Amino acid sequence: MTTDAAPRTYLMCRPTHFAVTYRINPWMDPAAPYDNALAVRQWETLRQTFLDLGHTVELIEPLAGLPDMVFAANGATVVDGTVLAVQFRDAERADEAPAYRAWFESRGFEVHDAKHTNEGEGDILLAGDVLLAGTGFRTAHAAHAQAQEVFGRPVITLQLVDPAYYHLDTALCVLDDRTVAYLPEAFSPGSQAVLRRLFPDAVHATATDAAVLGLNAVSDGRTVVLPVQATALTAALRERGYETVGVDLSELRKAGGGPKCCTLEVRS
Ligand code: ARG
Repeated sequence: MTTDAAPRTYLMCRPTHFAVTYRINPWMDPAAPYDNALAVRQWETLRQTFLDLGHTVELIEPLAGLPDMVFAANGATVVDGTVLAVQFRDAERADEAPAYRAWFESRGFEVHDAKHTNEGEGDILLAGDVLLAGTGFRTAHAAHAQAQEVFGRPVITLQLVDPAYYHLDTALCVLDDRTVAYLPEAFSPGSQAVLRRLFPDAVHATATDAAVLGLNAVSDGRTVVLPVQATALTAALRERGYETVGVDLSELRKAGGGPKCCTLEVRS
């Protein structure tokens, strides 16, 4: 744990239109039941958790016909007040991109168009001075080079290999400026070696933690908000000196998302 905890600004999207009507990752089963009202209540608890921790939560208007728009992390990448817009792999989510872009433009942010498939903070995470960038399922490798140009920060490419962990933020959580938690087997052997080299003190999650999307967590450097079902990871984080808050996002997990997917950090 470091003392870099400071109030954050998060952008979120209420899951008013949340549904599981298509399948673009292995968690999604359009034939299985889901409860929209429960999803909204679970999301409200997440939002209230951030407010209770002293953070600011901004909201974007949810649009009908975009059931995955609740996953705001995929709406952009924002570092030092600069916004890199997104381009979704799947047609089902394509219309979310201009909505998020417009949100940032209307608030005066400088927005760069995505030149390649790029699913925002789902795959591009700021870790101290560098950006960690996932590829293999969604964000294209070429998007990593664009992120390096736009943000002027080194980008470390990480190869994801397990379809269940299709976005970087499902397999790795940035805990603070110095370290991360991750599921080693979600990465290629070379990327595992890179992670060991960069983060010798990292927390290694278990397959059981990852399977409840335990790594899809939001840390402010002091407190980690993570799925309540990730009990071993919670214990490991507490042992390291982090505070933890468990939240239940079981309904949103039916679309393959957890706390971090619902949360886009706006770094002005
Ligand atoms: N159903 C969404 C998709 O497959 C879930 C997105 C989760 N977001 C994230 N940042 N991992 O695109």
